[in-house]
This record gives sequence, structure tokens and C-alpha cells, in this order.
Amino acid sequence: MTRHLITSALPYINGVKHLGNLIGSMLPSDLYARYLRARGEEVLFICATDEHGTPAELAAREKGQDVAEFCAEQHQVQADLGAAFDLSFDYFGRSSSPQNKELTQHFGRKLLDNGFIEPRVTRQVYSIDDGRFLPDRYVEGTCPHCDYDRARGDQCENCTRLLDPTDLLNPRSAVSGSTNLEVRESRHLFLLQSKLADEIRVWVNRHQDWPVLVSSIALKWLDEGLHDRGITRDLSWGVPVDQQGMEGKVYYVWFDAPIEYIAATKEWADEDPDNRDWKSWWYEAEDVRYVQVMAKDNVPFHTVTFPGTILGSREPWKMVDYIKGFNWLNYYGGKFSTSQKRGIFMSDAIELLPSDYWRYYLLANAPETSDASFTWDGFAGTVNKDLADILGNFVNRTLKFCSSKFGEQLPEGGAIGAAETALAEALQQRLTAYNTHMGDLQIRKAMQELRAIWALGNEYLTEAAPWTVFKTDPDAAAASLRTAINLIRIFAILSAPVIPNAAARMASTLGIELTATDWVDGDILEELQRLEAGHGFEIPDVLFRKISDDEVAAWEERFGGSA
Ligand code: MF3
Ligand code: ZN
Repeated sequence: MTRHLITSALPYINGVKHLGNLIGSMLPSDLYARYLRARGEEVLFICATDEHGTPAELAAREKGQDVAEFCAEQHQVQADLGAAFDLSFDYFGRSSSPQNKELTQHFGRKLLDNGFIEPRVTRQVYSIDDGRFLPDRYVEGTCPHCDYDRARGDQCENCTRLLDPTDLLNPRSAVSGSTNLEVRESRHLFLLQSKLADEIRVWVNRHQDWPVLVSSIALKWLDEGLHDRGITRDLSWGVPVDQQGMEGKVYYVWFDAPIEYIAATKEWADEDPDNRDWKSWWYEAEDVRYVQVMAKDNVPFHTVTFPGTILGSREPWKMVDYIKGFNWLNYYGGKFSTSQKRGIFMSDAIELLPSDYWRYYLLANAPETSDASFTWDGFAGTVNKDLADILGNFVNRTLKFCSSKFGEQLPEGGAIGAAETALAEALQQRLTAYNTHMGDLQIRKAMQELRAIWALGNEYLTEAAPWTVFKTDPDAAAASLRTAINLIRIFAILSAPVIPNAAARMASTLGIELTATDWVDGDILEELQRLEAGHGFEIPDVLFRKISDDEVAAWEERFGGSA
């Protein structure tokens, strides 16, 4: 039987993630992991914080903290927020772990042995006043392409072009502001991607089932020609390069970060070595299907550079089978920005409303085929309509009415008939589509199907109209209420990957317990009669509350809700 390895792109350590980061990788991968577990599949779902690189060092410096201490603290913050959003990682690791150091150095050595790494003498910006090299974001200056005067050494934020620190005009140190800079020579390791390009292309072309967003980015990079890349830096924070003549240098963050997918699995196994085998997931792992989830800016690193690392090792490491890529979620048409604190961050969101509200809204509006835009109005609309009116209202009015006429148990009498057969057929059709979309990671389509499944409940009730029928034919009303209450059970199971807390409450209201492996697999007409007459229930509090216009206005004000 196939085992499923799922990784979410690793959130960067430099601060709390915003809703765009959440829907770009962590949340959809969680949905997929939960769905597969529910179908009885064996799943390993891995994530970690990405902790090296100059943005981490600069963020630590800004807080007046030692970088290791900063990362340890921020890792915990992100782990806690992940838990608050019910992200069901089997393990949430750290790229600064000893396991990642060991594996990163291993890949570095293999690439060198196989002739895919070569040391070269390069020209680097050196700050005389700071007494150090200034790689990547440690140097700022004017972009030679667009004149933006706060461009950073690795990339211009304004025109998005990739830069080398020596490209910047009027360079200055991001540490001290000093312009007393010079160019000094420094030896660095280069990954000879040009030698691997053909193999990478063959590998990419073997994956005709990838989404166009992903394959088009991969092919564009390959078509533009792969350049050999410097994969080391003159920094002390990072994985040290354990090769002769490279003392005091570390691997570049984008070299070690994806290796952490493997290393985090090792971290997971090292916590319980008798029962967990990391290598079987990664090495000669023919029975594993590996799915990666990420936003589009991460695609080149996962389709070209990291595969180059693996192929160049000449070892049978597991390579990704399917990549799900996402476009951007914008905030009122502009970018969410961590550095500019624009938009909504996970810590803010979870203070306002429980995770289910955000999970459903974000998944239903996932930026799949194009960029999407968050607005408070849109958020309130989705919550009020889909969660409160369609799902919540169905659950509450069914149970309330039943209890008022028959007490808090499934009523006796009557029998199912044509209406229930029709309901079962409609439900079966929707469920088949829902399964297909979930299995294909077609997130929006899956959520549309789920919403349509919930709506079947209201349509059924409207047609069966137990409140009218009760007066003339209480047995018929009893039969339709039994069916409706069974629908609540089915909705709980099918909604659990999306809104796990509400699903658990729906189940507990019916006196049943949901497990991570529950799914609706059987004959639907039978499933609609699973809970029998006499089975007790409780009336739950409101499942989802509505968001008022006043709240929308207040939140727009607080978070800056306009373009
Ligand atoms: N931290 C990166 C980002 O936020 C993603 C790293 S994914 C990994 O864009 F594969 F490299 F780990
Ligand atoms: Zn620019």
C-alpha cells in the first residue's frame, strides 16, 4: 500500500506568518493530510521553521537578541500558532537542528565527490567599519535596474529582480549604515547546475500531471538556462561548510532549507527511534508518494535547485511526485507584507475568531488559478452565509425542532421513502466529486462541493417540511428528522478535515466521537439510517456565529482595510 509523505513549505523564522503564508502552504497541506488519514491512508506530514539566512540574523539584531535565542523563541511562537490553527503536523522541526547540519554536510560532500560542486574565488562586499563581509541582505543600496534606493543585496523589492550585493549602486551596510565598503575576494562553493540541467529537465518532463502554474515556472527557469550558483556565505549563523579551506563559512539558506524536509523527518524519528523509521520515507522509498505544497515564489527552488541537489548526490533519495503551487492571497489588492506589517497575521486572526472560521474561509477562497484578495466584507460574507446560514442553521434548527416535538432523541415511527432515496443519490454524487477534488488537491472545487453537500440538508428539510407535516402525519415528520440528524453525523465526518473543531462539536452533540480515520465510505442510504430511533442528542450552542457590519467596520479600521 502506498504511504503518503506530505510537506508544507517551511515558514521562515523572522516573524509571525500572515494569512497569505497560511493559505499558501501550511493550511492546504494540512487539509490534504487530514483527508488522506480519514480515508485510512498512512500519512507523514512534515513541516519546520526555516531558520538560517540573513533575514533571521537581521530580525534578531533588531530585537537585540542573539540569533540562536531569537530562533528558539520564534520557533515556539510558530509552533503554538500552528497548533492554534489545528495544523496537524506529525512533526514541526527546525532547520537549525543537528540532524539538518549532518544531512546538509552530507549532500555538500556528495556533490563535491561527484564533481557538481566547485570552489571559486568570488568578489564580495566587505565592510571595513563592521569588520565583516556583507552577504545578501546585509547590504542595501540603489537598484541598478529601477533606481529604487532601498534595494537589498539579494533582491530588489521594487522590481523583484535578483541581485548580487556587488550590483548595488551607493551600497551601505544594513548593520551600521556605513558606506566605508570595499570588494574583497573570498572563496565559495558553487553548485554546477549547468551540468545537471539536462537531467533536471528530463525529471521535470516526466511529471506531466503537475499543475500548469508549477510546470510553467520550472520550464521557464530551465529555458532561461541554469547558472552555477554560489551555495555558501561568509556568515557564522548557518550550517558550517566542513570542507578544507572553507573555515568560517556556512551553506546558503536555500541550500539547507529543503534538506530540512528530510532532516525534520529524522528529528521526528529520533524522538522515538524504536517505532519510527525516517529513512524508509526518504531512501529507496518506492512505496511512498511525496506531495509538496508551496506558494509560487518557492516553485523554482523545489522544481530545479533542490532536485539538482538530490540528483547530483547520485543517491536514491525520494524526489517529489506532485507539487501543489499557489498564487498570492492579497490584502485589499495589495501585498500582505511581513516587513511592512500589512495585512492580518496568524496571531491577530486567532484572537478575533476560532480557527475554523479562518480555515474554511481561506480554503474556500484559496488563490489557486489566480491571485485572490482578502477583504473583511468577503470574509464576513463567506462566514455568515456558508458557515452560519447553511451549515450552522441546519444543525441547530433540526435538533431544536426535533427536541421540541419528540424530545432529545431520534424519534420513532415512519419509514424512509422516495425523498430519502433521492437525497442519498444526490449526496452520493456530491461525495464522489468531493473525494475526487480532495484527492487532486483542487481546494476550491472541494470546498464548493462541501458547501453543496451542506446545502442538501436545507433543501431536504425544506421539502420534507417536518414542522408542517407533523400536524397531520407525525410519523412522516419523525422519519425525516431521523434522516436530517443522520445528515448531521455525515456532515461532521465530511467537514472534519476543513473545520475540525465544529465537526467534533457536531459529533459530540450526537453523542458520538469522531476519529481522525472516520469517513463516509458505505452505502449512503444505509449511512442515512445509521443512528437509530432512541439515540440521544443534545442541542448545541450556536455552531458558527455571524459577523456583524459593525465588526467589519471596526476590523477594517484596525487592520487598515482599503487599498
Ligand atoms: N522559508 C521559505 C519561504 O518562506 C520556504 C522554504 S521551503 C524549503 O519562502 F523547502 F526550502 F524549506
Ligand atoms: Zn529594482
